[in-house]
Amino acid sequence: MLWGHRWILLCVLTAGFTSLSLGVEENVKCADLNNTTWQQYRQHRPKLQVQYLLLTRRNLDCAQEFSQESLNNTHFNVSRPTKVIIHGYRVMGSKPSWVKELAQALLRVEDVNVLVVAVQVSILINQLQGHGCKLESFHFIGVSLGAHVAGFVGTLFTGKIGRITGLDPAGPMFKRADVYDRLDPSDAQFVEAIHTDSDNFGISIPVGHVDFFINGGNDQTGCPHFGLALMYSRLICDHMRALHVYISALNGSCPLVGIPCNSYDEFLTGQCLNCDVFKGKCPAIGLSKNSGVVLSPLPKEQKLFLLTSPSSPFCAHHILLELEVSPLEKRAELGVTLRTGSVAVEQKLGLGTGATLYRSVLAHPMALCEIGTIELRNTGSRFYRQGEVHVKSVCLSELPSLSRREKPLCVIKFNVRRGTPCHMTWSRCVACSEAPQLAPPPSRPGSYPTLDAS
Ligand SMILES: *[C@@H]1O[C@H](CO)[C@@H](O)[C@H](O)[C@H]1NC(C)=O
Ligand SMILES: *[C@@H]1O[C@H](CO)[C@@H](O)[C@H](O)[C@H]1NC(C)=O
Ligand SMILES: *[C@@H]1O[C@H](CO)[C@@H](O)[C@H](O)[C@H]1NC(C)=O
Ligand SMILES: *[C@@H]1O[C@H](CO)[C@@H](O)[C@H](O)[C@H]1NC(C)=O
Ligand SMILES: *[C@@H]1O[C@H](CO)[C@@H](O)[C@H](O)[C@H]1NC(C)=O
Repeated sequence: MLWGHRWILLCVLTAGFTSLSLGVEENVKCADLNNTTWQQYRQHRPKLQVQYLLLTRRNLDCAQEFSQESLNNTHFNVSRPTKVIIHGYRVMGSKPSWVKELAQALLRVEDVNVLVVAVQVSILINQLQGHGCKLESFHFIGVSLGAHVAGFVGTLFTGKIGRITGLDPAGPMFKRADVYDRLDPSDAQFVEAIHTDSDNFGISIPVGHVDFFINGGNDQTGCPHFGLALMYSRLICDHMRALHVYISALNGSCPLVGIPCNSYDEFLTGQCLNCDVFKGKCPAIGLSKNSGVVLSPLPKEQKLFLLTSPSSPFCAHHILLELEVSPLEKRAELGVTLRTGSVAVEQKLGLGTGATLYRSVLAHPMALCEIGTIELRNTGSRFYRQGEVHVKSVCLSELPSLSRREKPLCVIKFNVRRGTPCHMTWSRCVACSEAPQLAPPPSRPGSYPTLDAS
């Protein structure tokens, strides 16, 4: 990206003064966003009019142009909360195609005013305050650069804005930026961010009260990461995923909850299993108050992790795989495949000589009780020498673990020979060198519940 962030914030202020002359003609036609590139915006900002679009439940399909003067002639209702979508300007200039989808998803959930704006918004907020809109009734939803614009406007209103949602807030140049310049928890009463491209267009540090890092926040499943991914739409696939996950959460296809953890590695290796630090209530992406966070005071820059499926609606179950083996003489690798009908999810586990307990968290399209079989393969025949792995227990449970009494599914005591895969359903085992038993596995801190074969 070519521009400096201080510059952006400057023009946010200056661009606003041109917005006051916008009027709405009689017999309103549906308004649309103009194709303005960032370059045009930089070069012509004194001449460009800032465009506000309004969508409500009364005009779901036909946006109205909006300004203070036209307030009485639009469907804007000062007694309702206002969602402000800040989309920023696209590098290529074509208008963002997702704005309407996001606005409609919001309106399906709540009867609100949805305003759409590229950058300048603070003057309008001031004016709307004069019409009786309360600052806490504003919710800014900023995409990419728009997230920092929202943060900056939040600063101007000394953090009294109700809520800011940053959808993959732009980075990395904002990473070292002063909190005055970038989105941070002091910008609104509740600030949340969804991160999907931290290693590229998105910011890598947490910037809200809570920060959802989807699939670790870097590379998204279902986005191309190899080969010639040079087309614009492919280049920004990770970056735009935050938006699509947010819309899916609004659509209510499935709960998208995050589990607090210090790092993605710790999350993936099963070191963070529940939301006890959040009083047992995992924060969820969506419009619920404070994302469902009941802590007071609110946490700050709390990282939350979740996995998704590769495509909309991105629903996934988090399955914890726990493996205990007898001490190994040589290193080994086990491929563990969970199957339901034609759906198979594979996880490879590298086993060393020093450890006997392994944990791994994986995304699965189905709930734990729907997983039909588990297959273990001792895949290290060429490079590893462990001939046979004695599995003391292999257990599956679903995260977040809501209660300690929940029972994992376990299979215990069997050997996995090199080459021969070992298939098991929860009631029988095929092709193992010893018949495994289905019974409570040996103790683990917190004690293992007994097996429920289903
Ligand atoms: C914006 O650009 C698209 C194609 O890039 C074009 O179809 C559309 O008519 C343009 N809209 C305006 C308002 O200029
Ligand atoms: C958008 O396009 C309309 C019609 O072409 C024009 O009247 C208006 O000034 C433009 N707004 C901006 C912000 O460029
Ligand atoms: C809008 O309506 C209110 C009350 O009906 C009135 O006081 C105000 O002057 C109107 N504003 C404009 C710009 O017409
Ligand atoms: C404005 O919103 C309030 C609260 O939802 C509602 O009671 C009122 O009827 C709305 N006014 C109009 C003109 O729709
Ligand atoms: C949300 O729902 C709308 C309408 O039901 C649908 O068109 C859209 O694809 C959905 N989007 C996501 C991301 O789930």
